[in-house]
Amino acid sequence: MTLPTPLPAWAQLQSLAGAAQPHLRELLPADTGRAERMALRAAGITLDASRQRVSPAIQQALLALAEQAGVAARRDAMFRGEPINTTEGRPVLHVALRGDPLHTGPWGADVQKAVQVELARVCDFAEALRAGTVRGHSGEAITDVVNIGIGGSDLGPRMAADALAHLAHPGVRVHYVSNPDAWALWSVLRGLDAARTLFIVSSKTFTTQETLTNAASARRWLSDHGCPAEAVGRHLVAITASPAQAAKLGYPAERTFLFWDWVGGRYSVWSALGLPLAIAIGTEHFRLFLAGARAMDEHFCSAPLAQNLPVQLALNGIWNRNFLGLPTQLIVPYASRLVRFTPFVQQMDMESNGKRTHTDGTPATVDTGPIVWGGLGIDGQHAYFQLIHQGRHTVPVDFIGVQNEDTPLPLAATHHEVVNLNLRAQAEAMARGRSLADTQALLQKDGMSEADARATAPHRSFEGNIPSHILWLDRLDPSRLGALIALYEHKVFTQAAIWRINAFDQWGVELGKTMAKAMEQAAR
Ligand code: F6P
Repeated sequence: MTLPTPLPAWAQLQSLAGAAQPHLRELLPADTGRAERMALRAAGITLDASRQRVSPAIQQALLALAEQAGVAARRDAMFRGEPINTTEGRPVLHVALRGDPLHTGPWGADVQKAVQVELARVCDFAEALRAGTVRGHSGEAITDVVNIGIGGSDLGPRMAADALAHLAHPGVRVHYVSNPDAWALWSVLRGLDAARTLFIVSSKTFTTQETLTNAASARRWLSDHGCPAEAVGRHLVAITASPAQAAKLGYPAERTFLFWDWVGGRYSVWSALGLPLAIAIGTEHFRLFLAGARAMDEHFCSAPLAQNLPVQLALNGIWNRNFLGLPTQLIVPYASRLVRFTPFVQQMDMESNGKRTHTDGTPATVDTGPIVWGGLGIDGQHAYFQLIHQGRHTVPVDFIGVQNEDTPLPLAATHHEVVNLNLRAQAEAMARGRSLADTQALLQKDGMSEADARATAPHRSFEGNIPSHILWLDRLDPSRLGALIALYEHKVFTQAAIWRINAFDQWGVELGKTMAKAMEQAAR
């Protein structure tokens, strides 16, 4: 096993980081071919990486790092179903969930068959519900679905449902409850008719305290609102990798949809856990969502490292994290339907790569996963962007924009122009900044006295040199959304491969859970 620091490319990158690099303000106008050279395209997404602080020599050294770390071999091992999640002795095969239904992938026939059988069950149930043939205890069609789950059993389908809200079924509403605070459940239930409500209890383990608390409360609400005990199963669905656990709690087998221990919770939106999404957008769109992710998988597996979009995103992140010493990563979508995208990636990245131990059990010798944060960019501009522009932290940014939008509002095109102009302006402002001298000159040109301009300029100048990516989606539809999620999954994978950490366990969440259980028992 190769740890990162002994790799020749690591030392080379360290020495490149020690040498003076031009400011983006000088680099961008001087290197006119940069934008074209640093643009990559795959699966309906275009990456503009021209505002990263990387020279051709740094790019070469980063590519050498990926090669020396054996990223391609590790990627292939994942797709073949080797047990790369070593601390749990499991394969990692969320990619099989979106595999070509007609051709078995490298994961083999058994996995292929299990996936397709379960996908068909999920799709049949979703379509029956959308058609009004799934009925509650009184014979009325289900009109409201409440997904109860937390973390990976909530964030993925909830984020995707918002992103694809324009495709939502007009007669079936899907709600999400994750927090066990009673208000979270109550504020959804108080508007619902129990006879027409279905609860989906989503939990890989089916032991998560928060989810089971909400699920028990939902069942009590059903019976308090007239659902006879023998008919409660008509209002319940379980989605889990632990069907025995669900059965123990009384969830009927025919309403239990399965996934497997080789699907991490934060990588599970492609599995049966996508049922609430499939109900909302329909199974044709759900399959397009899977196909979009598959297109990104194919690109990840076949494109040379230099043209590989997830690899490039990962390598620039490594340059920022390990060689420029920047500990956070801001993600700012400029499409309001992507309102939950950042929290989703936050779990995917931080739960995967927030590790301090190499896969061989030795303490990590390099910085690993960054602090991922953010939210809608336009709103951020009027809030925390002040700190990005003039604070003491340098924060790398991923801007996410949408090229074509067709919201049916008369002035939609104007809205869209405002949004995308702002995205471009922010990326430029962060990269170039405005020097003290330029600021002073500008203020004087605007009529300020030389003395006042000199005094004011420090407050109104901008360091700039803030590295960013822009990811342009052709449009925000199921297949591009699938591709965007897969892009971040593979970015996280690539970084973990270079850092030599296990991206697929999450022991860090255990201690708090154990303590909460112990406190619960002590209080009884
Ligand atoms: O506590 C973290 C975590 O284990 C996540 O990894 C997971 O997505 C979430 O809890 C929910 O777990 P489950 O699906 O088993 O209820």
